[in-house]
Amino acid sequence: MALSDFDLVFFGGSGDLAMRKLLPAMYARDVANDLPVSARIICVGREDMSQEDFLQMVETNSKPHIKESVDEQAWQKFLQRITWVAVDAVNLQSYAGLVEALRKDEQLTRVYYLATPPSLFARICDNLAASGLATANSRVVLEKPLGRDLESAKQINADVGKVFAESQIYRIDHYLGKETVQNLLALRFGNILFEPLWRREWISDVQITIAEKIGVGNRLGYYDNSGALRDMLQNHLLQLLCIVAMEPPTSIAPDAVRDSKLQVLRSLKRFTPTTLAQNIVRGQYRSGYVDGQPVPGYRDEPGAPKQSKTETFVAMKAEIDTWRWAGVPFYLRTGKRMADRLAEIVVRFKPIPHSIFNQPTSSFQPNSLVIRLQPDEGLSLNLMSKTPGDGMRLKQAELELDFREQFKAPRMEAYERLLMDVLRGQLTLFMRGDELEAAWEWVEPILDYWEQDDTSPVPYSSGTWGPAASSALIGRDGLQWREEALPED
Ligand code: BG6
Repeated sequence: MALSDFDLVFFGGSGDLAMRKLLPAMYARDVANDLPVSARIICVGREDMSQEDFLQMVETNSKPHIKESVDEQAWQKFLQRITWVAVDAVNLQSYAGLVEALRKDEQLTRVYYLATPPSLFARICDNLAASGLATANSRVVLEKPLGRDLESAKQINADVGKVFAESQIYRIDHYLGKETVQNLLALRFGNILFEPLWRREWISDVQITIAEKIGVGNRLGYYDNSGALRDMLQNHLLQLLCIVAMEPPTSIAPDAVRDSKLQVLRSLKRFTPTTLAQNIVRGQYRSGYVDGQPVPGYRDEPGAPKQSKTETFVAMKAEIDTWRWAGVPFYLRTGKRMADRLAEIVVRFKPIPHSIFNQPTSSFQPNSLVIRLQPDEGLSLNLMSKTPGDGMRLKQAELELDFREQFKAPRMEAYERLLMDVLRGQLTLFMRGDELEAAWEWVEPILDYWEQDDTSPVPYSSGTWGPAASSALIGRDGLQWREEALPED
């Protein structure tokens, strides 16, 4: 569907996210001829700089983040779409410049993308309203962190909700913009094969892992107040869990999908202090080697408090109290400075009930479906197969679907897809306010417990798969994380 003409405003327009992700994503769509000729991008920030200075900044800070080689002519054309406007987000008078810069046509789509700290959301929305800019044709995009607990998330919803209707609010979780996440919807609801098996009778457990090699980098100020639970689990991991576990929505319409996801979040078994201590492991990286290079421990990162209790790793066993999923463990795990960069969902099916071959049942690997988001995107279905040659020996084999190989289509980054959806007015891949609150509500007892707990996260060496307690957590159920179960090459 062709986009209608728009004015897209990036608050935090000179910031890291705009430079690294948002502008490169818009450039990629421009080169793909997806943007209307007269569509404009207005970057807003506090700095008093000239248009030339800002474009120079984009040249230096944003251009290097473009994945494909840059076509210089297309780049110059793209730069012409951009206008820099100095606005102090908290000062109403300074919005005059923005009023001036925006086109007055009611038919235009107007998007305000708030890539700012959430503490500014309320003031920005109020000031947009007071300046007459919160018009019916406008949309607002909210970047994470969307709160640090239930109360602050509710506050954000209330503040933004005073000015914009829910149907105008786009809450970003960039994991929902990844190709494989949408492919998971296609796999589950575009095929007859899996859905009948997608339940407690046939599935033994589900693992969801997002592992990163990078450390906290230059984001310590934010991260030390956040930690892996808030930074990755409350949002990205729970969203993936929702897509895996939700009931078939009646359509792909935003509220149909979001209602199904909300039901999952509301059915997650609540933790008590006892179940929490047994089912959650938090870790913090120490020094070690990643890709053969020495890296410092978390507490030795520049600016880190020496006694910091911030977790950089979480593993947990979650359960969903519904007829479909009762008793099926969902193991969730995320960490920084791990052995590899990997994001995947592993759905393991139950073992066969009986072996007719001269092999014990225990030698049959249960079938599993691995859905890979990163580093490459694909699916593999593990089946038992006869080994070639004489005799009847069965061994695990893989049916592999590599999306890139299969479709040979150019890749789209998550932010490209999400920005296009905002501009199209397509809300399906964005969280609704009640979803956000339900996710925080489930996570909050964990945060409270850690707050009161005197112990520190368990240390793990950088470049490993996290603390031994994480293997013990899943090992207690007689299972292993997938990479631990893989045969050595
Ligand atoms: C962000 C987190 O939301 O996701 C970061 O704040 C993390 O800490 C990042 O590194 C991971 O995203 P991706 O797409 O690189 O897996």
